[in-house]
Amino acid sequence: MSLTKLQIDHYHSRGFIVIPNPLSDEAMAEIDTLQKEIEPRWSEMEFPGNVNPLAAQMLMAGEPIFEMIENPGLIEMAKEILDVDRVEIAAFGMGDSSLAVGGEQKQVQWHSDNFGNVKQVAIRVGLDRHDGDNAPLRIIPGSHKRDVAEFKQELYENEMASCPEEIPPKSLFAKHPDEIEIILDTPIMLVWTANCWHSTGKKTSTRLRRVVTWHYFAPGYDNPFQATVLHTLDGVWQKWSGERKKLWGLSE
Ligand SMILES: [Fe+2]
Repeated sequence: MSLTKLQIDHYHSRGFIVIPNPLSDEAMAEIDTLQKEIEPRWSEMEFPGNVNPLAAQMLMAGEPIFEMIENPGLIEMAKEILDVDRVEIAAFGMGDSSLAVGGEQKQVQWHSDNFGNVKQVAIRVGLDRHDGDNAPLRIIPGSHKRDVAEFKQELYENEMASCPEEIPPKSLFAKHPDEIEIILDTPIMLVWTANCWHSTGKKTSTRLRRVVTWHYFAPGYDNPFQATVLHTLDGVWQKWSGERKKLWGLSE
């Protein structure tokens, strides 16, 4: 999958591009079925503190999900965007994230995920339609370039201008004039940097809101989810080829 210069420029200046989902309908359907099979088992499991539960759920899907993430076209695309000769898979997850985050608010507030300034490309695909009352992702294009303290102040002022229930507000949800709502559904794939400020709409629908998300990191950064791979795939990862271990950020 080759991107145009305009797409790459858009990624860097606005923090995202949206591409047609390169994964086949069959591959998406297989992950959909697997997720539904895994979730009841996963919800009964207990994980050590250094293991990310949604990342563990993703790894439990095994080969079909590895194939999806190791998609050569996507890896080439990430290398092209980051202008590097190889990438590593890091920081990933599968499941209904609206169950785990957002708490009673049923909504995730404005934030940016920094990963310690890692050069990275984030991928996000929906297994269900995330729109309207189903907590769609909201992003503010270009906000990854803004000074953090200054931008936070801007969000705070917008919140105050909405006359929030709690004054001063503890969380920041107010509409930003530049925000866009990503209606994530299987035909599209979001390719973005989570350094771009983002939040979600409110989750009032009872529909599923499942997502698969992962990052391609430029080389030279530690995979923050290495412990999750070692724990969840114990007995499996040891048999992986050196190349695959490297791709998943496992040090020899
Ligand atoms: Fe985030």
